[in-house]
Amino acid sequence: MSTTLVTTIAELKALSAKLLSAAPDPAGRGGGTLGLVPTMGALHAGHAELARTAVAENDVVVASVFVNPLQFGDPADLERYPRTTDADLAVLDAAGVDVMFAPSAAEMYPGGEPAVRVTAGKLGELYEGASRPGHFDGALTVVAKLLHAGRPDTGLAPADAAGRQSYRAYFGQKDAQQLALVQRMVADLNFPVDIVPVPIVRDGDGLALSSRNRFLSDGERDAALVLSHALRLLRRRADAHEPLDIPSAEELVHMTPGVELDYLEVVDPDTLAVRAENCQDTPFTGRALALIAARVGSVRLIDNVTLG
Ligand code: PAF
Repeated sequence: MSTTLVTTIAELKALSAKLLSAAPDPAGRGGGTLGLVPTMGALHAGHAELARTAVAENDVVVASVFVNPLQFGDPADLERYPRTTDADLAVLDAAGVDVMFAPSAAEMYPGGEPAVRVTAGKLGELYEGASRPGHFDGALTVVAKLLHAGRPDTGLAPADAAGRQSYRAYFGQKDAQQLALVQRMVADLNFPVDIVPVPIVRDGDGLALSSRNRFLSDGERDAALVLSHALRLLRRRADAHEPLDIPSAEELVHMTPGVELDYLEVVDPDTLAVRAENCQDTPFTGRALALIAARVGSVRLIDNVTLG
């Protein structure tokens, strides 16, 4: 099998319907399942893991590669975002993806900038949203469009008895805020799709994989390790049911030359509301998510870890 490249929504829908019609149907559900992996390209091993997870769970898998102008505040950032179509196709092919959907901006936004958009609300203004105003509105708007574009008109099995949809979209846990917002959008606006979170992939030394790591010099890459070190420190304390002592983890980052901490927050894993209790003076209990963002040189990096 090799991955077929398509660039229009019409081609995408026709091809996935054709592939689904050829999918085996041992459970007699009258159709197959489709996994969608939305990306902006510059694919790395983290994306490959998303794709492999989708391939393992579905009859047909589509990965989209579209650098979405709506989610970039700074035109220079959009300009310098890496475009690596051939290499992306090779990554998707190796993962067993059936279709790579790489539309132009005109295909996604035929009327130019959309006048009506999805809004991420208050959660979209926190954490990453605080330093990137409008970013999550742009990301959710394109995700909504990709979810519609990727859904084939025919060939999908009905939801199973447990209510699991036959249409699934895969998102990395590294972008925890994006994942939480996509889950809210799908629930709040009744999108008939299951959102499947996929764990963060790390290099051997702990650095979370990101398309932005390629912009780090060797020295900056070493310095960037402090993000995962600070999170690991919190995890060790959470595992030992000790107070988290967030300021001491922040201090670790502040002490690293070339790294400027933006935020280190311990939040509720579902709502992402800051978790005030059990963080400072009392032993840690329950579950939480620790989120960190920092600028390393000129590169902004994020990471997170589940606690409890
Ligand atoms: O996470 C990304 O790569 C992008 O934000 C997404 C979900 C593909 C939307 O452009």
